[in-house]
Amino acid sequence: MIAIGCDHGGFALKQEIIEHFKANNIEFKDFGCYSTDSVDYPDYAKVVCESVLNGECEKGVLICGTGIGISIAANKMPGIRCALCHDVFSAEATREHNDTNVIALGGRIIGPSHAIKVVDTWLSTPFSNDERHIRRIEKIENR
Ligand code: RB5
Repeated sequence: MIAIGCDHGGFALKQEIIEHFKANNIEFKDFGCYSTDSVDYPDYAKVVCESVLNGECEKGVLICGTGIGISIAANKMPGIRCALCHDVFSAEATREHNDTNVIALGGRIIGPSHAIKVVDTWLSTPFSNDERHIRRIEKIENR
């Protein structure tokens, strides 16, 4: 199950990604927001990240206007490793190297077709399990 959430700046892209999830039988839970009315992105980062941390959802997708604010908010939550990705190489590398459990995107930055490729790459790339990457992640988690 994939958690997805956004603010008003990410709403349009969230709807595109949800249509892609539906068309490809990817199970998801939509944590809002549900319109382009102005909201606060930390509220949506919080609920999506909580669903990942409590095991309800395996991974999370967060979208705001730039992806910056919502990724900062997500990374304040212990146990969340959120990467802001606007390219396929970063999406693949952050799964292999950082074992990220949340991806952030900017709805005002990236178009829907590219964003869907980025999300699909991120969802389908496993963590490398390399010792050096495990060691580095442990240093992040146990500061
Ligand atoms: C909202 O206008 C905007 O600030 C937000 O979507 C995001 O870009 C913040 O980082």
